[in-house]
Amino acid sequence: QQSVITDKFGRALQDLRISVTDRCNFRCRYCMPREIFGKDFAFLPKEHLLTFEEIERLTKIFLQLGVRKVRLTGGEPLLRRDITTLIKRLAQLEGLQDIGLTTNAVLLGKMASDLKEAGLKRVNVSLDAIEDQTFMQINDSNVKTQPVINSIIKAKEVGLAVKVNMVVKKGMNEHQLLPMAKFFKELGITLRFIEFMDVGQTNGWNFEHVVTKKEIYEEISKRFDLEPVNPAYFGEVAKRYRYKGTDIEVGFITSVSESFCSSCTRARIAADGHFFTCLFAGEGLNVKDILRDGATDDEVKDTIVSGWKYRDDRYSDLRTEETAKNRKKIEMSYIGG
Ligand code: GTP
Ligand code: 5AD
Ligand code: SF4
Ligand code: SF4
Repeated sequence: QQSVITDKFGRALQDLRISVTDRCNFRCRYCMPREIFGKDFAFLPKEHLLTFEEIERLTKIFLQLGVRKVRLTGGEPLLRRDITTLIKRLAQLEGLQDIGLTTNAVLLGKMASDLKEAGLKRVNVSLDAIEDQTFMQINDSNVKTQPVINSIIKAKEVGLAVKVNMVVKKGMNEHQLLPMAKFFKELGITLRFIEFMDVGQTNGWNFEHVVTKKEIYEEISKRFDLEPVNPAYFGEVAKRYRYKGTDIEVGFITSVSESFCSSCTRARIAADGHFFTCLFAGEGLNVKDILRDGATDDEVKDTIVSGWKYRDDRYSDLRTEETAKNRKKIEMSYIGG
């Protein structure tokens, strides 16, 4: 049985993002700065992570509630042991139409064909620069761009749909906009520019760091002609364009300059099984404990339904310097982007 549940603003629950680990093999300065996520940082102990059984059970419940799309994130999801097995199990669930993964791709090349075989359909690869020096400054982990590029090519070769995500932050990588566009246009891969957001407490965000869609669009237009493409489905996060005369697309994720909360259909499960209805939430609902306390599927379902029904999140619509600074928000590496 399948239902449609809507929140206080009439938004249906359609997608589920599951963070499978809070760890990452990068230390991007805007996401997991080494000063905070250093040797002594207390990542979640293994027993606090949802098990594959728990993730599968929860996903089934979400499918009964109308979810059709699942995306695995982290931290870096490919660091989770046996992730391919999890994907295989999820891919077999009835009613699941789409399963994607968001990754920094360092480990993707090696795993791509197994992931594809397990039933993964799509990967979104985070890459914020094409030039080594800038990329290494950002990831703070001594990784050059070539391994990531090789993984992207490999993933495409094995038949995964691949998009690239570029977070654009002023002073960090605006000079990489045209080089990135040119590079991925030539490869025929969709590149999406993401406005830098104030997720978490540690990334020191303010409005001055944001390069808006308008500014990015102008920069790209110096060299290429773009034309708009219609959204593929209701609530699509990226605004899509294509290079005139081609099928090759670019996208803009405009959480800051043109927020898209009114069509936000996404639920999130953090690595330790907390349920969140907004990327910028302060606290979530501990579904893991409910599962481990022996609740029935119906009881778990009721919890999720009431969480969604009372949902009135629209953080990006309301964002100000004030909220960005003073509001308690969870970290991206924990909630999964
Ligand atoms: P597709 O299914 O391929 O469209 O994936 P996606 O764009 O939804 O997911 P991805 O993990 O690639 O995220 C791209 C960017 O969009 C990241 O910076 C996310 O943090 C951001 N994003 C995704 N969903 C939301 C959302 O609901 N609100 C906000 N503010 N940002 C979001
Ligand atoms: N603003 C926008 N996007 C971000 N990401 C990580 N931190 C931020 C931020 N502060 C991106 C990652 C990845 C996706 C899940 O979110 O680079 O592509
Ligand atoms: Fe960088 Fe993504 Fe890892 Fe954050 S989770 S440190 S953005 S690779
Ligand atoms: Fe959804 Fe919150 Fe993002 Fe708005 S800010 S689109 S409500 S996750």
